[in-house]
Amino acid sequence: MQTEVHVARHDPVGRISPNVYGQLSEHLGRCVYGGIWVGEDDGVPTENGIRMDTVELLRDLNTPVLRWPGGCFADDYHWTDGLGPREERPRRRNMWWTQGRDNLPEESNAFGTEEFMDFCEMLGTEPYLAVNVGAGDPDEAVDWAEYCNYDGDTEITRLRAKNGSEEPHNVTYWGVGNENWGCGGRFSPEQYAEQFRRYANYLRGFDRVMADESLELVACGHITDSWNRRFLEHLAECVSFGQGTVYNLLDHLSVHRYHHSGSDTEFTDDQYYRLLARARQVGEDIDRAAEALQLFAPGTDIGIIVDEWGVWHPEAVFDNGLEQENTVRDALSAASVLDDLNKRADVVSMANIAQTVNVLQCLVQTNEDSAWPTPTYRVFDLYKQHMGATALRTVVDTEVRAVKSIGNEFNADSEHEVPLVTASASEQDGQVYVTLSNLHRDDAREITVTVESDGVTIEDAQALFGGLPADLYSTETNAERFTPEEIEAENHGDGTVVVDAPAGSTLGLSVQV
Ligand code: AHR
Repeated sequence: MQTEVHVARHDPVGRISPNVYGQLSEHLGRCVYGGIWVGEDDGVPTENGIRMDTVELLRDLNTPVLRWPGGCFADDYHWTDGLGPREERPRRRNMWWTQGRDNLPEESNAFGTEEFMDFCEMLGTEPYLAVNVGAGDPDEAVDWAEYCNYDGDTEITRLRAKNGSEEPHNVTYWGVGNENWGCGGRFSPEQYAEQFRRYANYLRGFDRVMADESLELVACGHITDSWNRRFLEHLAECVSFGQGTVYNLLDHLSVHRYHHSGSDTEFTDDQYYRLLARARQVGEDIDRAAEALQLFAPGTDIGIIVDEWGVWHPEAVFDNGLEQENTVRDALSAASVLDDLNKRADVVSMANIAQTVNVLQCLVQTNEDSAWPTPTYRVFDLYKQHMGATALRTVVDTEVRAVKSIGNEFNADSEHEVPLVTASASEQDGQVYVTLSNLHRDDAREITVTVESDGVTIEDAQALFGGLPADLYSTETNAERFTPEEIEAENHGDGTVVVDAPAGSTLGLSVQV
């Protein structure tokens, strides 16, 4: 069967927020301690304790936004612990995770707000902080916002100056808790709606009077439809106060989605395709959240954030700091998630893969003396050209593979069809960029891409993973095997370009229109 990808330039979806290509860095395993922060370790070059090999790799991705300090860790974190002379900072519990090279459930607080801001500055990335709702209080959250964003003279801003930052950090994104239906306090949607209203009320109040009304507040949602609907309905159960509706309290609603099938490096064909089918659920989660927002808060422009997503294999457990191998299969699933995020540019305001370094579907892995990119890193690198461009409606006509449901994993449908080719496209400055993946494990295929235009000039065509087995994973010594290769693309005129996509590969095709 011929595979066709049609790029409808007359049908723009919306601007792809650069923040879709964000990440989560949690105090978990060797993400922060070991992967980002090593203090005065002389095994790797550092600046202010931050390892520069990690920084250099992430800089090349133009990492737009970093969510921190969690994850579950956020709802038991007290930000004031991470300030001042390092030797005086309190050593606390990390009740959720073991971490660092010693792999202990303890938090040294060596990496705190100032170190995180330093890291963000080195990367040129926006910070996104998650406040403590489960075990904290609104006052603590607002104090953190004052510390980060107030430009006046208070005890808190003097503390910031004492810690080396005269100028505010101007943090825009504030998550009101994390997974508050679970590790973040086990609230019901109604209870969380009350907590959210309370926290958001004070954060907004601070921002209105003492800053520049630029805070963007993120409410914690869930992938089940009923959570989001109950939360949104209950949020409005209060008397009206101030201008506008209570929905003005939130700028974004977040959902999380992890998937796996088989083990990290061993999987049957069925498990290979099942993982890819499960990855497509991210798009369905977004559609359901968008419907709930449409129902309860029509006319608002509340964005949807997927601030944790990725592959979570059974090998990644508490005892090993959620480490797993990172294969080509994982990277292909990331490409298909990114296509689904791009295609929903009209509603998706951010996404954060879990996690930046060493943990889960990380982009960078490290050991004592080096850092290297994972296959998923290569996908992010190939896709970065979409950031800030206008997504174009993209229709893929392809063969599918049926995967039988286990239980009600695909919303009770007994079979789920995985399209064997996934694609998305965007336009910026007269250039159309198409990313597509041939997800077939064994067969190469010819793909005809039609871009609505009288004609195009091919600028670049690259492929990732051609000829590599789906279970190949990155190590310190083989990371170069996952770099992209230039491929042939034939220009057939009238905007039609034909490419050969190897089995299990991801392509980036750039054309001038
Ligand atoms: O990313 C690992 C964990 O997964 C996060 O701490 C939590 O939010 C989610 O359940």
